[in-house]
Amino acid sequence: MASILVSDALSERGLEILRAAGHTVAYRPGLKGAELVSALSEAEALVVRSGTRVTAELIAGARSLRLVGRAGVGVDNIDVAAAEARGIEVLTAAEGSTVTVAEHTMALILALARRVPWAHASMIAGRWERGVFTGVELAGRTLGIIGLGRIGRAVAKRAAAFDMRVIAFDSTREAARSGETIVEWRSFEEVLERADVLSFHVPLTAATRGLLDAEAIARLRPGVLVVNTSRGGVVDERALLAGLDSGRVAGAALDVFEQEPPSGSPLVGHPKVIVTPHVGAATHEAQEKVSVLIAEKVVAALAARR
Ligand code: MLT
Repeated sequence: MASILVSDALSERGLEILRAAGHTVAYRPGLKGAELVSALSEAEALVVRSGTRVTAELIAGARSLRLVGRAGVGVDNIDVAAAEARGIEVLTAAEGSTVTVAEHTMALILALARRVPWAHASMIAGRWERGVFTGVELAGRTLGIIGLGRIGRAVAKRAAAFDMRVIAFDSTREAARSGETIVEWRSFEEVLERADVLSFHVPLTAATRGLLDAEAIARLRPGVLVVNTSRGGVVDERALLAGLDSGRVAGAALDVFEQEPPSGSPLVGHPKVIVTPHVGAATHEAQEKVSVLIAEKVVAALAARR
């Protein structure tokens, strides 16, 4: 049976699944630095969320490590190339948080359209300004989705229920082949040019870094709302700031940032921007689902290796 280190928070049920399979589990959420290196020296499996940075250096020192389980979607905190070079398998629980991230995306779109945070702040400040927070209807407007994977599709479905027209771009074109009925397939440029609301659902890779840069922003429809619940870095923050200040972008909602936390970022506190602290996947349901899913996958992968 294997020795498993869990270095970020995992639900009790996830931990039970690992233990019930007979593995020895060291549950040490928040472990960092030398303590992490030392705890990992004997571990055969490591389970993380986004808190632990699984660097090439960490992997090099983990002589017994055979697999890394990521309770969540993004693997940008894991040096996958370094892991693969050592034959270490990297597993994710991508399916667990799809609905939750899609719902947070809809919350941000609605909050931007109806100016909810600003109206709330005004009332909290003792004012009653009924004429100031006139918003826009989503019905009849066009949602442009960049990245039509699991989360992009879940957002499309929800936006369609709001009577939005949904257009999308996905570089893999898988979506086009899979018979989507509620989404119109468009080129990246067409999505930029036609969207009233633009939402990103792609991983951060060399190809997606800075996808919404100054050139892309220059193509946007004036008055567009931009939402990013995918990964910081997909949207070039300096370019977005310029777009907001010029008025081309009417508002933005960001759950993810180039640097987290985004200390000193002019986007935090900007009068046209809603920010949330990377909580797209943060519901009780999603956290439970990703914990259970990753525990099951780790147990199955360890069994397959014996
Ligand atoms: C994910 O990748 O699962 C979400 O962004 C949440 C997280 O990073 O923990």
